[in-house]
Amino acid sequence: MKFFLDSAIVEEIEHAFTMWHFDGVTTNPRHVQVSGKPFLKVIKEIAALAAGTDRAISVEVNPHHDNHAAMVEEGLKLAAISPNFVIKLPATEAGFKAIPLLKEQGVRANLTLAFSAAQALQAMRMGATFVSPFIGWKESNGEETVSMIEEIVTIRDNYGFDTEVLVAAVRNARQIVDAAVAGADIVTAGFAVFQDAFDHPYTGVGLAKFQSFWDQTPYE
Ligand code: E4P
Repeated sequence: MKFFLDSAIVEEIEHAFTMWHFDGVTTNPRHVQVSGKPFLKVIKEIAALAAGTDRAISVEVNPHHDNHAAMVEEGLKLAAISPNFVIKLPATEAGFKAIPLLKEQGVRANLTLAFSAAQALQAMRMGATFVSPFIGWKESNGEETVSMIEEIVTIRDNYGFDTEVLVAAVRNARQIVDAAVAGADIVTAGFAVFQDAFDHPYTGVGLAKFQSFWDQTPYE
């Protein structure tokens, strides 16, 4: 299973690559705004961190685009910056239509803002490299999400699509594990979510106990 970092903070991405061996990055307009840097500047900095590797970096087109031609035009411009870039397109009619148009020019797409298996199926049919169901947003809305992930994975396998299921807007360790058990290919989450998930309070408690015993025991 692959882990992507959902962030546009260069220091976080560097840490995730070097210390956690992460496989890619997902950005969105919120992450870019939080970085405090202009869009093109920050995505170029992220591209530099992934240069020479096969790590996928998802970058999102202007969310104001309401037609596929504008999405394709910007997608091609962004993809020319780095071979690591995967173009994030919204789950709208125009977004779906832009997927094959980018693909025929060798540019990969990540269908974002997906909230149902039917949207994911359409993304797969159109040739998306990644499809991103947003589970955190659905759960905030009181919706159950594990069965949706299972359905998307089953549909993908039933028809032999090569789209990877990228579970997004993940808020905690339980959701990471649920996505893995449901057969998702990738999880993307924020830095703090992974940091918390890789820790457990008992690990620190246990370490302190063992240090105490260690200190009371001769080595030889
Ligand atoms: C995924 O690709 C998205 O960037 C992300 O998961 C969106 O969710 P969030 O910004 O609410 O965390």
